Amino acid sequence: MKEITLTIERSDPAQERKPHRETYTITVNEGARVLDALEEVKRTHDPSLLFRACCRAGQCGSCAVRVNKNPVLACMEEASDQMLVEPLELPVIRDLATEIAPVLEKLARITESGEPRPLSKEEVEAIKPLRECIECLSCVSVCPALKVVDFAGPTAMRQEMRCALDPRDTTDRIPEAIERGLFACTTCHRCVEVCPKEIEIPGKAIEKLRERANQAGLTLPRHQEVAQLIEETGRSVEQTKTTFLEEVPEVIEPDGAVKMTVGFFTGCMFNGRVPKPALDAMDVLKRNGIRVIIPHEQVCCGSPLIRTGQTKILPDLKQKNIGAFASRGIEIVMTMCAGCGSTLKNDYDTPFTVMDITEVLVKAGIEAPAKLPVKATYHDPCHLLRGQGLREPPRIILEQVVEEHIPMPAQCCGAGGGVRSGQPEEAAALGKLRGEAIAETGADIVVTICPFCEFHIQEQTDKPVKNLATLLLEGYRKKDQEKSGD
Ligand code: FES
Repeated sequence: MKEITLTIERSDPAQERKPHRETYTITVNEGARVLDALEEVKRTHDPSLLFRACCRAGQCGSCAVRVNKNPVLACMEEASDQMLVEPLELPVIRDLATEIAPVLEKLARITESGEPRPLSKEEVEAIKPLRECIECLSCVSVCPALKVVDFAGPTAMRQEMRCALDPRDTTDRIPEAIERGLFACTTCHRCVEVCPKEIEIPGKAIEKLRERANQAGLTLPRHQEVAQLIEETGRSVEQTKTTFLEEVPEVIEPDGAVKMTVGFFTGCMFNGRVPKPALDAMDVLKRNGIRVIIPHEQVCCGSPLIRTGQTKILPDLKQKNIGAFASRGIEIVMTMCAGCGSTLKNDYDTPFTVMDITEVLVKAGIEAPAKLPVKATYHDPCHLLRGQGLREPPRIILEQVVEEHIPMPAQCCGAGGGVRSGQPEEAAALGKLRGEAIAETGADIVVTICPFCEFHIQEQTDKPVKNLATLLLEGYRKKDQEKSGD
């Protein structure tokens, strides 16, 4: 047995009682779950405490709550001392019980006609990845799009695709999914992060529904323009100045001994729109003994096409990109754009290893820069944090170069998933939330490592938004100046 102290957010909207926190000390068994702790509080302190639970085995989804801000199943999560238990971020009935009926009632149901027939083994297999949902609504409670637009939410989209995959279903799910917000999803993967069943809703439902929308001629016009640009130029952004590839040689040799050789996949934004951070990165790599090979025939990775369901020319792009690096015998391909990195890692089958620049720098080990006299906060690009599982490498580098790092909770900025081009008002609303979160930190600058986030966030904050590579180079320049006595 052990004694633990926990705090629970209590409220009763019917009595207009504002949420307040109450702290309890209880005794529970070793390995007790959050649900056991709640039951003990109810038994020993307050029989009126309201929460839901049914199966106690992670199968019904009814016990979902937040523990220390993260959605979890109370029956599966181990209770810990000093934990904070709150309801999911949904309308609250009382205490930890939230309104789930309005969402569940709107989930699509199969519409059958004629004789019922069993599904074949293949049909069951196709539906399986989307059928595991236990309707806990953790995904709905964290979805950033739902905070700013009318969107049925992740699990509703999952259910639309589940029905669309069912040959017995007689409803055309595509117009329905579009009407319910199919193009509102930024593919940030926050829903996957909190799903107890790890259902890959963006990839297995949203992008697949968008593919079907494309086949039905229902792709958003702005997304079609991007696809046309890629088809005509191999690039997803218009070139506004000399491109990165036009400015650099194919091989950049490092100063001193070669510690590592990487191929550089530039991505469309760094190539055509914001080449400076990529040029800064080349100087950083040079200084740290990393040889960079840059095949000039590389093209768009295809991420804007995959996210918006326009996959017709994708095989061609993949073949060109893989060929560009594989033909040179490159074993490690480095990306600097989070979206490109996530695409190469998750949507390609490559004969080489793909690494983000922050992974490369941490693996190779970097020369210590001078500390810059700034307070910085870091914005996690969704396609780096969740798409590539990279939380620590950028922080390890950042903390070497700034005097103070002020943490900021990760949240999508609204630039991804085709939302910035297709739903600009939603993208701006999400960007505004990021701007507010940045202001709350009190930081002097915002640092990130994705060109889309950098570009988008800069429109919503008066603080300078800097790429981590640029910041690191500034740290080296300061070091050199200090050394030369300037
Ligand atoms: Fe059923 Fe927790 S009580 S999932």
